[in-house]
Amino acid sequence: MRVVILPSELKASNFAANIIGKFISEKEKAVLGLATGSSTILTYKALIKKYEQREISFKTVTTFNLDEYMGLHPDHPQSYRHYMNNNLFNHIDINNKNTFIPECFDDDYVTSCENYESMLKRHGGIDIQVLGIGTNGHIGFNEPTSSLNSRTRVKTLTQNTIENNSRFFKDKETQPTLAITMGIGTIMDAKQILLLGLGKHKSQAVAEIIEGPVSSFFPGSILQLHKNVIVVVDKHAASDLKLYDYYIHTEKMHQAYTCK
Ligand code: GLP
Repeated sequence: MRVVILPSELKASNFAANIIGKFISEKEKAVLGLATGSSTILTYKALIKKYEQREISFKTVTTFNLDEYMGLHPDHPQSYRHYMNNNLFNHIDINNKNTFIPECFDDDYVTSCENYESMLKRHGGIDIQVLGIGTNGHIGFNEPTSSLNSRTRVKTLTQNTIENNSRFFKDKETQPTLAITMGIGTIMDAKQILLLGLGKHKSQAVAEIIEGPVSSFFPGSILQLHKNVIVVVDKHAASDLKLYDYYIHTEKMHQAYTCK
C-alpha cells in the first residue's frame, strides 16, 4: 500500500487528479470507477480544469460509479447521478452513454445488480477505482460486516451512515435507508485503487484501513490485500497514523526512485 501524505486537501486532491489525468491521457479506452461524497469534489474540479486546459479528454473514457441510493430519481438533488452530472459529467466531454451508475428503476433489483456486474466485465473491468472512506470504514456502501467477497447488491445503511449523510438532505425530506452498491469483491477486482481521505474527521478511519487488522467489521481494511493501492491523505486525515514519519520517508524514496 502506497501512503501519500500531503499538506492540504487541495494538494491531496490535485495529486489524485494527476494520477487519473495521466492515466486517461495514456490509455485509449480508460475505465474509471468513481465515488461520490465530499472527498472527491476537489479531485473532480481538478480534472475539469485539466479538460478545460485541453490536457485530457474523456471522449473514450467509460465510468462506473460505486453506488446509488435506492428510490431516488436521477433528477433528485441527492441522487448520485445528479451529483456526478453536477460535479463532473456536465463539465467534460464524456459521452453520457458511457457513464454507468447502479440505478434500478423497477423492482427487479437482483437483475439490475447482475447487469451492472456483466457490464463491468464487458468493459474489461475497472482500471482505476476512486474511493472515499466512511467514518465506519465503509467503501461504496459496503457497511461493516459486509461480505469481503460481495458483488453488486442492495445494502441496508447503518444509522451512522444515515446520520453522516443527513447533512445533504433537507429537513423532513425522506432520506433513503437502502442503496445499491458495488460489492467489496467488485471493488477489489479493480486493477488499481485510489483512496482519498480528507480532514481530521477521517483520521481514525484512515489509520484503521492502513494499520488496523483486516476485518469485515471495517470494510476498507480489505485494501491491505490489494496489490496496487494508493491512499492519498492530507496531514489532518493522516494524524492518527502510527508510522506517519515512515510514510513520509517512503514517499520521498518513491519520488526519488521513480523520477530517476
Ligand atoms: C458515502 C458514499 C461513499 C463515500 C463515503 C464518504 O456514504 N457512499 O462512496 O466515499 O460515504 O463520504 P464523504 O467523502 O462525504 O466523507
